[in-house]
Amino acid sequence: MKAKITKAVFPVAGLGTRFLPVTKANPKEMLPIVDKPLIQYAVEEAVSAGITQLIFVTSSSKHAIENHFDSNFELEAKLAEAGKNEWLEVVRNVLPAGVSCVYVRQQNPLGLGHAVLCAKDIVGNEPFAVLLADDLIESNDKSCLRQMVEVYNELQSSVLAVQPVALSETEKYGIVGLDNPELELGKCAKVTSIVEKPKAKDAPSLFASIGRYILVPEIFYFLENVNRGVIGEIQLTDGIDKMLLTHDVSGYRFHGKRYDCGSKSGYLEATVEYGMKHKDIGEGFIKYLRGLNLD
Ligand code: UTP
Repeated sequence: MKAKITKAVFPVAGLGTRFLPVTKANPKEMLPIVDKPLIQYAVEEAVSAGITQLIFVTSSSKHAIENHFDSNFELEAKLAEAGKNEWLEVVRNVLPAGVSCVYVRQQNPLGLGHAVLCAKDIVGNEPFAVLLADDLIESNDKSCLRQMVEVYNELQSSVLAVQPVALSETEKYGIVGLDNPELELGKCAKVTSIVEKPKAKDAPSLFASIGRYILVPEIFYFLENVNRGVIGEIQLTDGIDKMLLTHDVSGYRFHGKRYDCGSKSGYLEATVEYGMKHKDIGEGFIKYLRGLNLD
């Protein structure tokens, strides 16, 4: 029988160095895009793809994430008492019905592969999704992860979301080699290699793997056996690269727009564009932007 994807891992234990000092005491994943934190967008995307168990890989400074997805009796009681039912619904719907959360600690930020490995016992022997909340992906119709689950259901093998990047940007990403370098939107190609942050001259293509993955559970074996970095870090791309020797992995060029909210400029672009589209403030905000006369 085909395994259904019901579990998603959210690695949220990174240091968020590029956003210091705001990330000194606040998790980067709690940064708001207008009125919702990045992690909530990622959770909503996962739920839209049929995920029912959310596995957060956290660290000691990330309590705000646990609190965000927990109920807040005091706040709810006060909103109910004041008759602010619309806001009460907003607060109650942060975690959709039928969805549960599990938290596991990554004691040291030893890389994304290490963070995923921390979820091994909770994931068990099932295919699962990984979402990096600092990659915010807007799509008109089906969410990026939902598109990927459909691909997984058809191919029954690991799927990486990929997008083309500029030659000058290869050093920021895991770059994949594909058996079809002309990959069109909404299509898949077989991943033949994956290289972490290569120089442009060494990049196997101009397709980058971004923060959405569907992985088969065998990935844990490969993560446990990759060569660790100088401080013991484990890169997810190294685990995937090892897995390629024995397992098919597909690169899927998703429909949707990705904002790199792990960088200040990407975060600001998302804030402006989500602000312009926001149902309550969008119109006024666009007027304000026009008034800036930036030309
Ligand atoms: P990033 O490298 O983008 O996040 O990792 P970071 O390390 O927090 O940020 P900078 O580079 O210092 O500014 C992508 C995702 O993986 C998580 C991060 O929390 C982020 O959501 N991550 C990264 C972990 O959970 N553990 C790690 O050891 C590293």
